Amino acid sequence: MNIQWYPGHMTKARRAMEEDMKLIDLVMELLDARAPMASRNPDIDRLAKGKARMVLLNKADLADLAACAAWAQWFENQGISVVRIDARNRGTLKAVQAKVEEACREKIERDRRRGILNRPIRTMVVGIPNVGKSTLINSLAGKACAKTGNRPGVTRGNQWIRLNKSLELLDTPGILWPRFDDQKTGLHLAFLGSINDEILNKEELAAELIRFLEGAYPAALTERYGIQQAEDPYACLEEIARKRSCLVKGGAPDLARAAALLLEDFRGGRLGAVTLEQPQPAEKSGGQKAGEKEEA
Ligand code: G4P
Repeated sequence: MNIQWYPGHMTKARRAMEEDMKLIDLVMELLDARAPMASRNPDIDRLAKGKARMVLLNKADLADLAACAAWAQWFENQGISVVRIDARNRGTLKAVQAKVEEACREKIERDRRRGILNRPIRTMVVGIPNVGKSTLINSLAGKACAKTGNRPGVTRGNQWIRLNKSLELLDTPGILWPRFDDQKTGLHLAFLGSINDEILNKEELAAELIRFLEGAYPAALTERYGIQQAEDPYACLEEIARKRSCLVKGGAPDLARAAALLLEDFRGGRLGAVTLEQPQPAEKSGGQKAGEKEEA
């Protein structure tokens, strides 16, 4: 399946973010724990040059626990501080402050040498659409003060949210554009719902998801829909349609509805904790830099 997508308003979002970068010390890069590479914009290294960095693996509640731990280790191996979070759950954010200090240690030291004491660290949350930026800002701030959604044209006034005496957060997240140089990355973003479904063939997408699940999480479809191994992904989709009474007039399976249902179930975690990408152990040999792609 061929996925090509680049929304026009991303150019505007990028410029806005480049401007905001000048105001901050620390970049909180929010990634989807189910696909940390696909949800990562490789240009972040250039955009965030000179800034302290940390990665938040969000939606960890939907990701495979072991894979999530492996990814956290992978980022730590690259020297990037990581926290696994569920942005909706403030309890999972408790570890963030300590990691902020770890990520900003150099800056804090530098300030201290210059006699600057107790200057708050200014931070910005960045990530691709739908990764959970607004949810995170709201949770960190403790009240619904961040604009939800990524509407272009929303009036931008830089508001700083004081989280505590040592940390301030820009209320406007930096919207990164998803970038996919290969079809697998595009597919993963589409599975997650980060690409507007309207432009995609949902049945084809669902068939690809079935293919992936049958390989990596063979029990997931049986457990959710009570179906046995089907002949091919489309036969499987037909079975899902029948099991869930997605039928067109005359009783034939409604594949479009079954596809939408499957994708919604996946995105909502109802197929169990699933991670689409695994880090490659070869990493530790030092051949690969952060931001380079990993495949499942
Ligand atoms: P964005 O600003 O980066 O575009 O993302 P936003 O915060 O709007 O979050 C996108 C969707 O992801 C929201 O769901 C939000 O609730 C959900 N979400 C964010 N973080 C997490 C997480 O850690 N775990 C889970 N399971 N979901 C998360 P929605 O259905 O679009 O909106 P809503 O009905 O929840 O408001």
